[in-house]
Amino acid sequence: MNHFINLKDIPAKDLRKILIDAKKRKKARKKLNNLEFDKGIPLRGKLLIQMFEKSSLRTRLSFYLAIKQLGGSTLTLRPDELHLSKGGESIEDTAKILSNFGNAFMLRTDKDIKLEEFKKHISIPIINGLSPSSHPTQILSDIFTVEEIKKKPISKLNITWIGDSNNVLNSLIAASIKFSFNLKIGCPKNYQPYRDIMNYIKKNKNKISIYSNPKKAVKDADVIFSDKVISMNDKVDKNKKLNSFKQFKINKKLMSFAKNDCIFLHCLPRGSEVDDEVFLSKQSKVWHQAANRVHVQKSILLYCFGSLR
Ligand code: CP
Ligand code: NVA
Repeated sequence: MNHFINLKDIPAKDLRKILIDAKKRKKARKKLNNLEFDKGIPLRGKLLIQMFEKSSLRTRLSFYLAIKQLGGSTLTLRPDELHLSKGGESIEDTAKILSNFGNAFMLRTDKDIKLEEFKKHISIPIINGLSPSSHPTQILSDIFTVEEIKKKPISKLNITWIGDSNNVLNSLIAASIKFSFNLKIGCPKNYQPYRDIMNYIKKNKNKISIYSNPKKAVKDADVIFSDKVISMNDKVDKNKKLNSFKQFKINKKLMSFAKNDCIFLHCLPRGSEVDDEVFLSKQSKVWHQAANRVHVQKSILLYCFGSLR
C-alpha cells in the first residue's frame, strides 16, 4: 500500500510508472463509455471514500470516474455532516472507522497537518486531493498532458509558470525536481515562493529560476501554466494582490514571447489571470488537461493499492 500526499516524497521511478500505466489505460479504453470497466476490473469491489473541506468540481468527478472504471465505487462525505468537525470526534477515531469501511481515502483539506494526522491513524491509502501546500494529483496529470501533446519527455521542454506561488506551483516545483525539467517562474517580487520552498529548490540544485519580469519568464517557453491569483481560503487583501499581478496577465502579447507552438495550461477554475483570447484559443489545452485527470488518477489509485501493472 502507498499513500499519495506530496510529489516530493514519492520516488521519481514510481511517478514515471504511474504515467506509463495511465498512457496504456487511456489508449486501451478509447471505445468505451465513461462507466464501462477497464479490462481485468483491477479494483473490483473497492470503495474510495472522498471528503472535501473545500469546493471541487474536477477532482470530485475525475475520482468518481477513475474508481468506477477500475471496478470500484466511491462515497463522498461532507465534513459538516460528520462528527469530526462539529461534534468534536477525533481524527484518530474517524481514521479508524474510515479504514474499516473503505479501501482508500481521498481528502481535500484546508490544513496540511490533517493529512499527516490521518496518515498516522489510517490503515488504508490516503490521497491528497489538494491542500494549502500542494496539489499533487493535478500536477502529475498535467505532466501526462504535456508529454502527450508535445510527444516528448518533459525533461526536453521549457516550462513556465506565470502566477501566484501557491499549492499548484509547489507541486510543479516538486515535479521539476523529480522529472528534471527547466522551470521558469514569473511572479511579482512580493509573491515569490516561501522560504521552505526556496530552500527545497536550492537543496536540489535544479533548473528553476524566478523572474519578476513576465516576458523574461515566458521567453522560449514550450508550455505556460497558470492558476488563479486568489486561491480558495486565501486570506489576503484581494484588491492589493490582484493589482500586483496586473502586468502578469496572460494575453496574446505575452504569449508572443514564447515559442510559436507553445501551449497554455490552467488547472481551473480560472480568474482574471488570463484573458479569453488566450484561454479560448487553439494554444489552450485546458479541457484536454481536465479530462486527463481521470486517466492519471486511475493509475494513482492502482499505485496506492500496490497493483500497478
Ligand atoms: N483543478 C481542480 O482541482 O479543480 P476542482 O477544484 O474543481 O476540483
Ligand atoms: N490554487 C487553487 C487551485 C484550485 C484547483 C486553489 O487552491 O484554490
